[in-house]
Amino acid sequence: MIRLVSDDLRPPGDPPKRHLLSVGDLTREDVERLLGTARTFETSLERHVKKLPTLKGHLIVNLFYESSTRTSSSFELAAKRLSADTLNVKSVGSSVDKGESLKDTALTLGAYDPDVIVIRHPQIGAPQLVARVTEAHVVNAGDGKHQHPTQALLDLYTLREELGRLEGLQVAIVGDVLHSRVARSLVQALALVGVRVTLVGPPALLPREFPAEATADIEAIRDADVVYILRMQNERMEPGANFVPSLREYTARWGITPERLRPGQKVMHPGPMNRGVEIDPLVADSPDSLITRQVRSGLVVRMAVLYDVLTGGPVGVQALAAAEVA
Ligand code: CP
Repeated sequence: MIRLVSDDLRPPGDPPKRHLLSVGDLTREDVERLLGTARTFETSLERHVKKLPTLKGHLIVNLFYESSTRTSSSFELAAKRLSADTLNVKSVGSSVDKGESLKDTALTLGAYDPDVIVIRHPQIGAPQLVARVTEAHVVNAGDGKHQHPTQALLDLYTLREELGRLEGLQVAIVGDVLHSRVARSLVQALALVGVRVTLVGPPALLPREFPAEATADIEAIRDADVVYILRMQNERMEPGANFVPSLREYTARWGITPERLRPGQKVMHPGPMNRGVEIDPLVADSPDSLITRQVRSGLVVRMAVLYDVLTGGPVGVQALAAAEVA
């Protein structure tokens, strides 16, 4: 289940809290429940009035120490669609600029008694620290190159909605796996639901510890149902480190072009994309691209995650949705 945080995060005697810190904390049952709740919320968004009263009176803090478009906007909108109050804090322009530590920032925001703190931070383990020092439920919106669990969940949701199943699918993840929290979370999530994964890219960007087949041969994408493309994550590379001879060579050897894809082969990308580098614009804009679908999935999956950490499961979602219609 979504992690009931244990003694390693909270003082002895404190009641456990539900957080979403890592895909590793999820069971298959958790994943099924979350995807099912997201499906219910997606149905509710087809209505003229899209707001549900579900989390009225709750406060969601979105605390972002790194740039974001998709994750930050979808968490904010997810909270608003569920009638929660939102407080959005970006490190740039905050007292972090004056040297305030993560702990003191968390304690400061924790003084407003938020129900959930959603955090993105460049340091691995930052969400765990926030879970330790506040009373809030914590959702990891990306910590360094470690985890991005809601991205993995929205990708599973997208796959299932678009391909009709998860078990037995084959996904090729292409690009900078080494620096990718998306890949780390997604490989774990795909394994949990029975999807076979092949990692493809420059050898220096394919970490050995990943529990998946790995190859530098771009031809390996041929057998995949879905090609999942990653960008080069320069912001997490050591200054001066060279993982590929040049971006031009990267594009020539591993860039995804229409010629490299089979007709009907689906394409995913977590964004932001670098068109013309890891993905040809014709691929990004093709009918087989699920990239915009991923963004839409992000909203309903994050609604499901906020609902789940606060209520413990799917009970009542349908009833609440129906109540809104009546
Ligand atoms: N996929 C993703 O995390 O995108 P953002 O950085 O825009 O949030």
